[in-house]
Amino acid sequence: MDSVNGVKPAKPFSIAIVGGGLGGIALAIGLIKQGVPTHIYEAAAGFGEIGAGVIFGPNSARALNLIDPAMLDGFKRCATFNESADRIHTWLSWRYGMDSRDGNGKKCGDLIWHLEDEESAKLGYGTRTRCGVHRARFLDELAKLIPDGTVSFRKSLVDIDELSESKGGGIRLHFADGSSATASAVVGCDGIKSKTRGYLFNNKINPEYTGEYGYRALVPEKLAREILGDDIALNGQLYVGYGGFIITYPVEHGKLINMVGVVRNGQLWNHEQWIAPSTKEDIVKDFEGWHPVLVDLISKFEVRDKWAFFDLIHSEKYYRGRICLMGDSAHASTANLGAGAGMAMEDAFILSNLLGSINDTESLERAFKAYDSVRRPRTQKVVRLSRLAGMANEFVAPKIWDDLSKLQSDIDARYRWVWREDLEAQLAEAKRYM
Ligand SMILES: Cc1cc2nc3c(=O)[nH]c(=O)nc-3n(C[C@H](O)[C@H](O)[C@H](O)COP(=O)(O)OP(=O)(O)OC[C@H]3O[C@@H](n4cnc5c(N)ncnc54)[C@H](O)[C@@H]3O)c2cc1C
Ligand SMILES: *[C@@H]1O[C@H](CO)[C@@H](O)[C@H](O)[C@H]1NC(C)=O
Ligand SMILES: *[C@@H]1O[C@H](CO)[C@@H](O)[C@H](O)[C@H]1NC(C)=O
Repeated sequence: MDSVNGVKPAKPFSIAIVGGGLGGIALAIGLIKQGVPTHIYEAAAGFGEIGAGVIFGPNSARALNLIDPAMLDGFKRCATFNESADRIHTWLSWRYGMDSRDGNGKKCGDLIWHLEDEESAKLGYGTRTRCGVHRARFLDELAKLIPDGTVSFRKSLVDIDELSESKGGGIRLHFADGSSATASAVVGCDGIKSKTRGYLFNNKINPEYTGEYGYRALVPEKLAREILGDDIALNGQLYVGYGGFIITYPVEHGKLINMVGVVRNGQLWNHEQWIAPSTKEDIVKDFEGWHPVLVDLISKFEVRDKWAFFDLIHSEKYYRGRICLMGDSAHASTANLGAGAGMAMEDAFILSNLLGSINDTESLERAFKAYDSVRRPRTQKVVRLSRLAGMANEFVAPKIWDDLSKLQSDIDARYRWVWREDLEAQLAEAKRYM
C-alpha cells in the first residue's frame, strides 16, 4: 500500500486496527498522515455510534489539532457553542440538586460555583472550555478523513495468532465470519469489552462495576428553555446531591438538551447486560427529593434504558510484542469527568507519531513500549480520578462528604490536571524513551 495522501513515504510495516469507534478512527487518521499503512476491522455493519452526546475539554481539542487540524475542523462543524457569552470559559456550573441540609437555606437549583478555565481561549482554536458533540455526527466527520477502502465492516475479531519469525513475525487476526487478515502489528481499539485485551491477558483483566448507573434523556430545546429558562437550559449544569448527580448540556447546536441522571444506590448491578430497560417510575423513585422540575423532564424524555458504569483499573502494560491496546480497551473510565474519549484522542496522537518515527518492523515493539511508558500512568490516573469525581459529586467521597467548599477545591484540581497536559512534551519524552 502506498502512502495514502502522500504526506510521508510509506513505512515498510502495516498496522491493523481492531474497532472503528472514535479511538480507532482517530488512530487511523493519524497513521495515514504519518505514512503508516493501516486498515480498520470493525464488527458492526457500518459506522454506528450511539446517538448520545459526548463532551470534550481543552486537552481533547488540543489532541485533535495535533493529530490533524482537519480533525479539529470536523469537530467544530458539529460542536455546539450555544452557551451565553459570559459562560464560554465555563465547563459546567455546579448547583444544588436537592435542598441543602446544612441550614444555609439553599434550595435545589441554586448555584454553588462555576468551574471555569481560560485555557481554551489561549489555544486560539475558537473552541470553548466544554464542547458537546453528537457522537454519530462527529464520527461521520472523522470518517470523511480516511480514504475509501480503509475500513472493513462486519469483521468481528474472535482470535489472534502471533506468527513465528519464520512466517514473517506478524499478527494474524481471525474474524467471526471465518476470514482472517495479517499485519505487522495490531492495535486493539475495540472498547471496554475488548477481545484484543482478552487475548493479551487471557481474559484476566476485566471491567469492574463502580456502583453507579445513569439514565439519559434528550429534551427538546424549546421546552427546556420554557421550563428552565435560557440561562439554565443552554449552559452546562451539574447538580449534586446525596447518592447521585445530574448533568445537563446542549447538543445538536442547541436543538436538544442532553440530560444524564446518575445514581449510586449501594447495590450490585443485577443484570446480565450493562444496559437494562428503565421506566419513568424508576427515575422518579431513584430521584426522590431531587429538583422536581428536572426529574420530571428526564422521566418524560428518557431514552428508556439505564446503563451501568464499569471501568478498568489495572497495572498491566498496554502492549506485549506486536499487540497493543488503546482507548477504552486499555483504560475505560466512568463518564464522570467527561474525559474518556479525550484520552483516546491523546493516545492516538502519541501512538501515531511514535509509529511514524520508526522505519523498520523490528522497532514496533519499542514504539509500543514508549507509548505505554507515557500513556499508562496518565490514563490510569484518569480512571481513578473519574471514579473519585463521581463519589465526590454524590457526597460519598471520604474527607469531602457534603462539604461543598472541599468539593469545589477537589473537583477544580481534578479537572485542571486533566486539561493542562502538554502533549508535545509527552511525545518528546516518549521519543527519548525509545
Ligand atoms: C454513556 C456514555 C457517555 C460518555 N460520555 C463521555 C463524555 O462526555 N466525554 C468523554 O470524553 N467520554 C465519554 N464517554 C467515554 C467514551 O465514549 C469512550 O471513552 C470512547 O468512546 C472510547 O473510544 P474507543 O474507540 O476506545 O471505544 P468505543 O467507542 O467503545 O469503540 C469500540 C469499537 O470497537 C468495535 N468492536 C468491539 N468489539 C469488536 C471486535 N471483537 N471486533 C471488531 N470490532 C469490535 C465496536 O463495534 C466499536 O465500534 C462516555 C461513555 C459512555 C458509555
Ligand atoms: C445555536 O447555535 C446555532 C449556530 O451554531 C444556531 O443555528 C442555533 O439557532 C442556536 N440555537 C439556539 C437554541 O440558540
Ligand atoms: C526514519 O527515516 C527518516 C527519513 O529518512 C529519518 O528522518 C528518521 O530519523 C528515521 N528514524 C529513525 C528512528 O531512524
